[in-house]
Amino acid sequence: MTTHLLCHNDDLPENKTRSFSVESQQGKIDLFVVKIDNKVYGYKNLCPHLGIPLNWQPDEFLSIEETHIQCATHGALFTMETGDCIAGPCSGDKLSSLNIEQRDNEVWLQL
Ligand code: FES
Repeated sequence: MTTHLLCHNDDLPENKTRSFSVESQQGKIDLFVVKIDNKVYGYKNLCPHLGIPLNWQPDEFLSIEETHIQCATHGALFTMETGDCIAGPCSGDKLSSLNIEQRDNEVWLQL
């Protein structure tokens, strides 16, 4: 298992998302994290509908209401805590979640 430091906890505001690219043994992984109630969740930046990135703008993954993760291409909505798709063309599918650990005020990715 390898760990990668993503950012400091304070650099990730509540209800905001941030994207990262990490080099792993399997190649480059594009991912993003979202923080809700001081807990950080991480997902691969791939929409299950077409297997393309979810966002058009850097670090922008949420719906306008900031209640869900939203794919910018066809508008699929995903829950922030589980990545389940609850509306859109891939309804019933889910984002690929990643292991995120918060320790010592830092956010780490575990692969
Ligand atoms: S590519 Fe994401 S909803 Fe179609």
